[in-house]
Amino acid sequence: MITVGIITVSDRSSQGKREDLSGPEIEKWAEKNGYKIGGTSIVPDEIDDIKSKIIEYADMLIDLILTTGGTGFAARDVTPEATLAIIEKQAPGFAEAMRQKSLEITPNAMLSRAVAGIRGKSLIINLPGSPKAVRENLTVIEKAVPHAMDLLKGQVSDCGTK
Ligand code: MTE
Repeated sequence: MITVGIITVSDRSSQGKREDLSGPEIEKWAEKNGYKIGGTSIVPDEIDDIKSKIIEYADMLIDLILTTGGTGFAARDVTPEATLAIIEKQAPGFAEAMRQKSLEITPNAMLSRAVAGIRGKSLIINLPGSPKAVRENLTVIEKAVPHAMDLLKGQVSDCGTK
């Protein structure tokens, strides 16, 4: 069973000034795929808050940690920096695929600085902030997630047969 941790990064949502629609969007996606929700959180666009929450979820051995928001060019957008500070290995293929496929939908896809990487046995992937962008990007990555999880858990002996 794959567990999913959801971190919405938003100043306004963390202050209760804007309803978080993107976290629930990820939750719906996880449930549709038969994944278990291991935790959901809303944190402000603060590098230390984002880092702490990702570390907390990785320490809880949550398999897939998805952040939403804070990947753009605004002064307070620091989710990629927080992620890069705490991952042990980069997993660039996810961000590459998301930007490549998303460019077929909107040229603004090139404005997402999302990154992905591994900490311990957890895979961390940044998603952009809007519910629409969340849906579109999850559609891009979902086929590779199960095999990524198998590899992280050491459950693959021969990649070529999968
Ligand atoms: N990717 C997809 N698939 N669909 C979108 O609507 N929005 C873009 C981009 N990626 C978008 C997308 C926009 S407008 C921005 S500014 C960046 O993601 C960063 O979003 P964020 O700052 O909310 O993380």
